[in-house]
Amino acid sequence: MSKSIFITGASSGIGLATAKLFHDAGWQVAATMRDPKDAASWMTSDRCEVLACDVTDQGSLDAAVKETIAVFGKIDVAFANAGYGLNGPIEGVSEEQIHRQFDVNVYGVARTIKAVAPDMRAREDGLIITTSSIGGIIGMPLSPMYISTKHAVEGLIESARFEFAPFNIKLRLLQPGGIKTDFSRRSAEWADHPVYAEAITAGKKMSVDLLDAAPAPAKVAEVVLKMATDGKGRLRYLAKPGPYVAMYKYLPDRLWRWMIQMALRNAAKT
Ligand SMILES: NC(=O)c1ccc[n+]([C@@H]2O[C@H](COP(=O)([O-])OP(=O)(O)OC[C@H]3O[C@@H](n4cnc5c(N)ncnc54)[C@H](OP(=O)(O)O)[C@@H]3O)[C@@H](O)[C@H]2O)c1
Repeated sequence: MSKSIFITGASSGIGLATAKLFHDAGWQVAATMRDPKDAASWMTSDRCEVLACDVTDQGSLDAAVKETIAVFGKIDVAFANAGYGLNGPIEGVSEEQIHRQFDVNVYGVARTIKAVAPDMRAREDGLIITTSSIGGIIGMPLSPMYISTKHAVEGLIESARFEFAPFNIKLRLLQPGGIKTDFSRRSAEWADHPVYAEAITAGKKMSVDLLDAAPAPAKVAEVVLKMATDGKGRLRYLAKPGPYVAMYKYLPDRLWRWMIQMALRNAAKT
């Protein structure tokens, strides 16, 4: 019997590319999304189940997992990938926006784990891959809330792997760099504040330009397939990080800050 993967946020970007690559590699794919009308045309395949699922709702996740197990028998790999970016300065974001950002990006991951863990634990076998980001390592200007969610996800997974180890459930963190998806447009929410107006305009432009020139999500899907099949005990996998992680690690902080601030200033001028 072929293996199965359960994916959240499979309507576009990294989730969609991963669904396609695993499907083409012979896996059974549960492609979950908020609105099944957004499913890709190839998802009518016998080896693909399209399921409605909103990660802000535990009942919706539990139902999607139950249906996947009923159809495929089990879930070998769960890919907790759904997320979006709340950008803008802290002074501009509302409490409601902060709640929503954590609800999707952090609680959504915890809920996904809670939904898939009981069956994996009973079978003493399973792998849970979560989409973090290089933003789970590096702080970036004008997205303190999004970046905090990815730092939270890093802590969540690094800690939870210990409680799941006795049940042979492995946890992994995917850390993509900038990838060309809907992330800088449809999945980007910007908070406003008059004091930071110029920086916000520059930040918006910089994020769109950076992602428009970034690698396609298919490159990240290849890393996810490797994570699912290499049999290694590694926790973190970088995917197309660009030069940023190395620069952040090896440059003196003073120089790193200057570089990022210059990039923002240049974006403001263009
Ligand atoms: N692109 C990058 O540069 C980059 C870099 C590092 C990390 N990431 C991370 O990669 C993940 C995927 O993003 P992407 O780049 O592929 O962007 P994307 O194309 O915009 O995909 C985001 C996905 O998340 C889904 N989603 C949002 N809120 C949801 C909710 N409440 N319940 C279920 N699904 C929800 C969206 O579904 P709808 O269609 O229903 O909106 C969509 O399928 C995110 O966690 C993001 O933080 C992206």
